[in-house]
Amino acid sequence: MTTAREAPDILSPEFAMDPYQAYRVMLDTSPLLWHEPMQSYIISRYEDVTRAFREPVFTTSNYDWQLEPVHGRTMLQMSGRDHAVRRALVAPAFRGNVLENTFLPVIERNARELIDTFRDRGEVDLVSEFATHFPINVIVDMLGLNRDDHERFQRWYTSIIAFLGNLSQDPDIAEAGLRTRTELAEYMIPIIRERRENLGEDLLSTLCAAEVEGTTMSDEDIKAFVSLLLAAGGETTDKAVASLFRNLLDHPEQLAAVREDRSLIPRAFAETLRYTPPVHMIMRQPAEDVTLSGGTIPAGSTVTCLIGAANRDPRRFAEPDRFDIFREDLPTNTAFSAAANHLAFALGRHFCVGALLAKTEIEVAANQLLDAMPDLELAPGAASVEKGVFTRGPASLPIRFTPVR
Ligand code: HEM
Repeated sequence: MTTAREAPDILSPEFAMDPYQAYRVMLDTSPLLWHEPMQSYIISRYEDVTRAFREPVFTTSNYDWQLEPVHGRTMLQMSGRDHAVRRALVAPAFRGNVLENTFLPVIERNARELIDTFRDRGEVDLVSEFATHFPINVIVDMLGLNRDDHERFQRWYTSIIAFLGNLSQDPDIAEAGLRTRTELAEYMIPIIRERRENLGEDLLSTLCAAEVEGTTMSDEDIKAFVSLLLAAGGETTDKAVASLFRNLLDHPEQLAAVREDRSLIPRAFAETLRYTPPVHMIMRQPAEDVTLSGGTIPAGSTVTCLIGAANRDPRRFAEPDRFDIFREDLPTNTAFSAAANHLAFALGRHFCVGALLAKTEIEVAANQLLDAMPDLELAPGAASVEKGVFTRGPASLPIRFTPVR
């Protein structure tokens, strides 16, 4: 096993600027690192990260301190039957008929309304004017909450995400996260109580009424799940939309192919999830000693699983640093299911429950954006810089286009 000093430090500005360079060193020479400031082991190889997601010995107890203070207890912390029942309570709302009939129109409307604010202007920052708003607005509307509160949810979700990615334990970020928990509870609990009396077609009503094997969700359970949705479904899809367009703009021939044949959008999204995943790292806590490439991790330690590195492991993907929507080693038909071979949605029991919702959001957004901006290009002289270590995506994406008359 090597120590952190021999590889680029995960908390350094150099790493934040270009984690991919650091990932290459880790994959090659330091597949298992101990990081003293984070008090965590770091793993990067595809085989090791896959095991950490799939094998039950790797528990999610890390979320007891990483998420519970800000959300309350959620399904991410659970295992076995408890987890299976929680998942069964919420999963039907994120796939099949409910997704297609009830929520697709909500997604389409939110994409259209945001694009309407810039479609005649000929220029837009796709991050600040579209990507950061779209998924949160969709979730707020799916839940059947007040659309005037979109901005308020925007603020809460930013603070939750900062709490989750607070690797250096900044006390201001921690305090803002805890404040958000109180504010969100004060807002949500009365609405949940009222909704129980007046059930409708929305997601909040579905959660209020859901019952599996005699288990229902308490007001606190629902509030915690709503809070989880903001983080899990907001930040991720936000980064995914922006990264998809950034990757395509960087590869004009692939952008042209997608513009001509929209059935390529899921391929382009899958390759974006592999090449530039929205979530770069997920933690786990093994219940027993486990041996991985490079050494043994003692029971109870925290393990940081580098999705961004594993997705570029040359042992798994050919020419991993090349963005190629036509690559043959990334099947699109499984890319949004637990049989996926990229790791952006994790794998195993906690595989992203919102993967199909994310795919629908991306397809709707990409189609509408390409319709509104057929000749889109990066604004001349503009640079689009990626930001973030825990979650990562373009900080801005200034685009120029000829408005469609
Ligand atoms: C591109 C978009 C998305 C990405 C990259 C993503 C990524 C992930 C990852 C990596 C996990 C596993 C966390 C872990 O195992 O510790 C996860 C779980 C989860 N995601 Fe997503 N997600 C996305 C979209 C969404 C959406 C749209 C929703 C819902 C609105 C959602 C809801 C959830 C939930 C509730 C879990 C917990 C599942 C469980 O514990 O069984 N995600 N997601």
